Amino acid sequence: MMEAYDAIITKRDTRFYTDEAIDDEALRRIVQAGRMAGSSKNTQPVRLVVLQDKGWMQEVAECGKFSDPLKAATAGIAVCCLPDGSDFDAGRAAQNMMVAAWNEGLASCPTSMHDQACVTGKLELPEGWRVVVVLAFGHPDREKPMSLGAKRTDWDEYAGWEKWGRGRG
Ligand SMILES: Cc1cc2nc3c(=O)[nH]c(=O)nc-3n(C[C@H](O)[C@H](O)[C@H](O)COP(=O)(O)O)c2cc1C
Repeated sequence: MMEAYDAIITKRDTRFYTDEAIDDEALRRIVQAGRMAGSSKNTQPVRLVVLQDKGWMQEVAECGKFSDPLKAATAGIAVCCLPDGSDFDAGRAAQNMMVAAWNEGLASCPTSMHDQACVTGKLELPEGWRVVVVLAFGHPDREKPMSLGAKRTDWDEYAGWEKWGRGRG
């Protein structure tokens, strides 16, 4: 088990996984981490569809343009949102789940579903609901890169202190 800060800071978006199965209890804890995320005015606009069938994940992956992570994954979680729900709330649940997974030694990668009609139809979402993102999960394949290694915005540019762009002094 990691310290919370270490789990947050070291979590990368990993696209390659081994075939090792995901422990059922670990998956339950991941779902619980999403469920416990707060939401604006406690509207709780998020629902999940958990995917574990490899063949089915390949089909769902067809709804996105860059969905190789989902094709390689051992499990997927579609983060679904109410018509009037906020993507921020969905994002909180999604990051909670990915960090909780990392705490279990499981890697993950968000996967965009560019064709909403395709993914909402396949997953049989009720009218008006959307899929914000599908998270791919699996044990990381340590033989392959853990990340594309995207550089982060420089510290000074990222955070201003008291006013936009102001250094800390
Ligand atoms: C909303 C969202 C959608 C994403 N969709 C995809 C995707 O469809 N395919 C993919 O390979 N990566 C996807 N990513 C992963 C980003 O490319 C990744 O967050 C970025 O490269 C930083 O990765 P790092 O933390 O490993 O440096 C997505 C990330 C976010 C936040």
